[in-house]
Amino acid sequence: MTNGLMLKAGQKARLVVLISGSGSNLQSLIDACDAGLLNAEIVAVISNKSGVYGLARATAANIPNIAIDHRAFDSREEFDKSLAQIIESYQPDLVVLAGFMRILTSFFVNQFLGRLINIHPSLLPAYPGLNTHQRAIEAGDADAGATVHFVTAELDGGPPVLQARTQIETSDDSAALSARVLTLEHVIYPTAVQWFCIGRLQMIAGVAYLDGTALPEAGIFFSGATEL
Ligand code: GRF
Repeated sequence: MTNGLMLKAGQKARLVVLISGSGSNLQSLIDACDAGLLNAEIVAVISNKSGVYGLARATAANIPNIAIDHRAFDSREEFDKSLAQIIESYQPDLVVLAGFMRILTSFFVNQFLGRLINIHPSLLPAYPGLNTHQRAIEAGDADAGATVHFVTAELDGGPPVLQARTQIETSDDSAALSARVLTLEHVIYPTAVQWFCIGRLQMIAGVAYLDGTALPEAGIFFSGATEL
């Protein structure tokens, strides 16, 4: 078993965060860094859409940020190549997808394999893709949630690390459910990212390991007691 991320004493992990929208998960990472709960520095925020609120959050936190409009590229491959180049220029230890609404090519995923993490608003493997909360409500599911997972070439299919769950109430519509799940996301994402930054979490050959032990297929369930 190899070790996870190893930093020199006093060094912080370098994070590049990719967004497409409001950036509330980005904010939870910024706040965790500021509070000293995350041994990391967000060295850049990149959005594929200009004018989104997440970029304003980055500016407010003095984090270098840029928008790269995917529509300016001839193909998904061309966009991903440029994006990868820009990301690499920041020498990230971890690339954090935080509401980045683009399907990534296998070229991109393979370049960052093992240092690319995502949060998805469902209890994976249920409901990969879009409209997760609406689909869970329509299916009559008892609960919904979110999953932090390593990214592999399969859409929302990489190994889960940490999941949080909430009951679906009869009064829930997708907006209410989504708001409740988001508050859980803001806890589990910094937690899982911190595990990576302090070398506890890694992915080897498509399997996620915490403290050297392979995680169960659904990852760990957040109990509220999971330490940051
Ligand atoms: C979150 O629900 C996240 O799970 C999904 O996209 C949404 C992003 O929200 N991947 P925000 O931009 O972080 O507020």
